[in-house]
Amino acid sequence: MGERLPIIAGNWKMNNTIKETKELLTALIPLVKDAKAEVAVCVPYTSIATARKLIRGTNIKLGAENVHWADKGAFTGEISADMLKELKVEYVIVGHSERRQFFGETDETVNKRAQAALSRKLKPIICVGELLSERENGKTDEVVIRQTKGAFAGITKGNLKNIVIAYEPVWAIGTGKTATAEDADKTIAVIRKTIGGLYGKVAAEAIRIQYGGSMNAKNVTELMAKPNIDGGLIGGASLKAEDFSKVVLGA
Ligand code: 13P
Repeated sequence: MGERLPIIAGNWKMNNTIKETKELLTALIPLVKDAKAEVAVCVPYTSIATARKLIRGTNIKLGAENVHWADKGAFTGEISADMLKELKVEYVIVGHSERRQFFGETDETVNKRAQAALSRKLKPIICVGELLSERENGKTDEVVIRQTKGAFAGITKGNLKNIVIAYEPVWAIGTGKTATAEDADKTIAVIRKTIGGLYGKVAAEAIRIQYGGSMNAKNVTELMAKPNIDGGLIGGASLKAEDFSKVVLGA
């Protein structure tokens, strides 16, 4: 893994009220305080202010789950980068497969959201990953290459240090099925090579690429042992303090 600092980020998705946010973070803070990996929680908008207060002064970083590309305007239900920045959000997930599947997100809108995040000094966690049908048709590499190129269009090299990529095979999300560590590593290597093609080898070696999809306390060690895997984007296992802390400490 070289010099890349692993990053374990929880993606809470549409889970946790303010009350539950308080309970979860209060339990989590002492459990991960000695983590070697970078730790982040990406929380629903309604939990951001509460999470911010609770994690201030701890080693847990704050993230959001989406951001709109426009500065402001008539985009009902969306949130701007300035709004997140005002709440001291550091990371923001962009292009999660659930956004692509259920909310019409495309490579182009993922790119626009990533650019908006970067323009306000938010760090996007850009998600890519193939569907089961694409994997079965041998299209995994083609899909992640297309998604990666699409997401990074127009993004300059100077921004790369503020970007994390998450490789999340869609069929492994919330299903209990994990990609084998070998397969995950292989596909992440393809993504890294794609970054290399766009920005050069040094940049490719420096960028952090997480795995996501049923990652948990049991499989974290095996996944993290792979040279290309720099951490994880954790859904289900990020919703219980004990489970999430085990993933963090295993990274
Ligand atoms: P699970 O860990 O629940 O499979 O979710 C992964 C994910 O989508 C993280 O963004």
